Amino acid sequence: MEVNARFILREVMKITIGSDHGAVALKDEVKNVLKEFPDIEVTDVGTFGTDSVDYPDIAEKVCADVVSGKADRGIVLCGTGIGISIASNKIHGIRCALCNDVYSARMSREHNNANVLAMGGRVTGFGPADEIVRVWVTTEFTGGRHARRVDKIMALEKN
Ligand code: RB5
Repeated sequence: MEVNARFILREVMKITIGSDHGAVALKDEVKNVLKEFPDIEVTDVGTFGTDSVDYPDIAEKVCADVVSGKADRGIVLCGTGIGISIASNKIHGIRCALCNDVYSARMSREHNNANVLAMGGRVTGFGPADEIVRVWVTTEFTGGRHARRVDKIMALEKN
């Protein structure tokens, strides 16, 4: 197995991934990229074909794993990434970032401690998506003043 030497993980990371019918090909691509990381374990909750499914159902499955601790992080995909990111952010404990570029992916980890990444299968090409995923899984939360802000985000769930 080829290991991408630019990105080293510190410990085993469990990732649950899911997509609607609009991003099945991107899901397969992302799973291939994650194979570069021997310390990442991937659970795929579907969908697996071209039959139409509802993206909130996929968001629910992926985010349930993250909230329960079965997964450390989640990756959710739909046609645009918009619907499934909105749905994911309705679930308490989830900070889902829709990323179409590498900078946003990095910031979503460093500043927002995003625990779910969303992308759009009809928006982001495989090349950019591959880099987004590599950066997202290897970037740590900065903490400090950003921790205070993330705490305030999570407090909004209690209102
Ligand atoms: C499904 O056709 C499409 O609406 C979905 O994949 C996503 O783009 C919604 O935000």
